[in-house]
Amino acid sequence: MIGEAIEILLVEDNPGDVRLTQEALRDGKVHNNLHVAWDGVEAILSESRNRINAMALIHSQLYEGGDLSAIIMKGFMNNLLVQLLQVHSVPETKISPVVHAVDCSLPISAAVPVGLIANELLTNAFKHAFANRKEGKIEVSLGASGKGNIGLTISDDGVGLPEGFDINASKTLGLRVVKILAEEQLDGKLEVDSDKGTTFKVEFEMAKR
Ligand SMILES: Nc1ncnc2c1ncn2[C@@H]1O[C@H](COP(=O)(O)OP(=O)(O)OP(=O)(O)O)[C@@H](O)[C@H]1O
Ligand SMILES: [Mg+2]
Repeated sequence: MIGEAIEILLVEDNPGDVRLTQEALRDGKVHNNLHVAWDGVEAILSESRNRINAMALIHSQLYEGGDLSAIIMKGFMNNLLVQLLQVHSVPETKISPVVHAVDCSLPISAAVPVGLIANELLTNAFKHAFANRKEGKIEVSLGASGKGNIGLTISDDGVGLPEGFDINASKTLGLRVVKILAEEQLDGKLEVDSDKGTTFKVEFEMAKR
C-alpha cells in the first residue's frame, strides 16, 4: 500500500505522466492511497512510540529509586499497565488487569529485559486477545520461582494464539524480541501455553544476573 502511494507521487514528479496523475487525482486515487499509506505509517510510528515509552518508563523508574543495583519492579509494572491501558483501551471491551505479587527487586541488567518483555506481552494481550469480546482479564506476576529463580508470568483469558502458531518460527518482531530477550539476554526459559487464553512464562536464574 505504501509502495503504491509512493509510485503515484513519483509519477506526479514526471511531467510526461501528469495526465495520469490528474486522472488519479480526479478519481481520488492519490488521496485514498495516501490515506491508506498514512494509516500504515501512523500504526508503525505508534508501535514505536509505545516501545520507546516503555523504555523511558524503565529508565525513569531507575532514577526514581536512586539505587541502580536493585530496581523495585512493582512500581514499574503498575505504571506500565496504566500507560498501556491509556493507549489500548477501547470502549467495547472492558479489560481488567490484575497484578499479583510483583515483589522483587532486580539489577538493571535484568530489569531492562524483563521490562521490555512485559511491554511486548502486555501489548499483545491488549491488542490481540480480546477481539470482538466484551471483557477480558490480564494477569501479571513477577517474583521468586523455585530456588534462586525469578519468574515472570503474563496471561490473558482471550482468544488464544492462532492455530498452529509456533513461537520458534514467528517472523513478527514482538515475539521474536521476547524470545531473544528471554533466552539470550536473561539466559532463561520461555514457555507458552495457549490452551485456554494465552500464558507466557519466562524463568531465569538470579545468580546469572
Ligand atoms: N495474547 C495473545 N492473544 C492472541 N493472539 C496473540 C497474543 N499474542 C500474540 N498473538 C498472536 O501472535 C502474533 C504474533 O505476535 P507478535 O507480538 O510477534 O506480533 P504483532 O503483535 O502482530 O506485531 P509486533 O511485531 O508489532 O509486536 C500476533 O499477530 C497475534 O496473532
Ligand atoms: Mg506484538
